[in-house]
Amino acid sequence: MNDSTTDFEFANQDDIENIIKIMRNGYYKCWDREFFLDLIKNRNSLLCVLKKEKSIIGFIAGKKSEENCDIIMLIIDIKNRGEGFGSLLLSNTLLVLKDMRVKNIYLEVAVNNSSAISLYEKYGFKKINIRKSYYKFNKTMIDAVLYRMVNS
Ligand SMILES: CC(C)(COP(=O)(O)OP(=O)(O)OC[C@H]1O[C@@H](n2cnc3c(N)ncnc32)[C@H](O)[C@@H]1OP(=O)(O)O)[C@@H](O)C(=O)NCCC(=O)NCCS
Repeated sequence: MNDSTTDFEFANQDDIENIIKIMRNGYYKCWDREFFLDLIKNRNSLLCVLKKEKSIIGFIAGKKSEENCDIIMLIIDIKNRGEGFGSLLLSNTLLVLKDMRVKNIYLEVAVNNSSAISLYEKYGFKKINIRKSYYKFNKTMIDAVLYRMVNS
């Protein structure tokens, strides 16, 4: 779904630089160009961007395997959070995954990432497990919650 100012698109190679900028500014770690290139080229991966007035303001990455997809990350540019764009990116992605006949969508999120947890639960993700000491933020180990959503 696109409205007059936002576009949801599959990413291409020209988007990688801006994706990395968003990640550097607003995420605890960063992957390199090769990582994103691989997501674009690999047919079992997914890399989509949300653009506002033609500029990338967020992206989502995932890996698929038959009926399952793992969301690796969903990041909205720090300047554009709290304006509904995370919802827009996630809801469009769920539609794309439905078209691809993906049934189970999994993701991990740090137990203290309350905004992401709230977003995922709003879209029907259910907690299925806890992964102890899964993330390391500034030398502190944080548990992750594993979520699953059945895309019906
Ligand atoms: C999580 C994230 C993607 C949300 O994007 P966003 O554009 O700010 O979210 P939206 O404005 O669309 O809000 C959607 C829902 O998210 C939740 N949410 C967003 N910001 C929140 C906040 N500050 N506190 C609590 N819940 C929040 C709410 O459930 C909200 O729904 P509501 O508006 O009906 O209350 C964004 O904060 C982000 O990029 N965080 C850093 C990266 C990250 O941690 N990603 C998740 C793990 S990969």
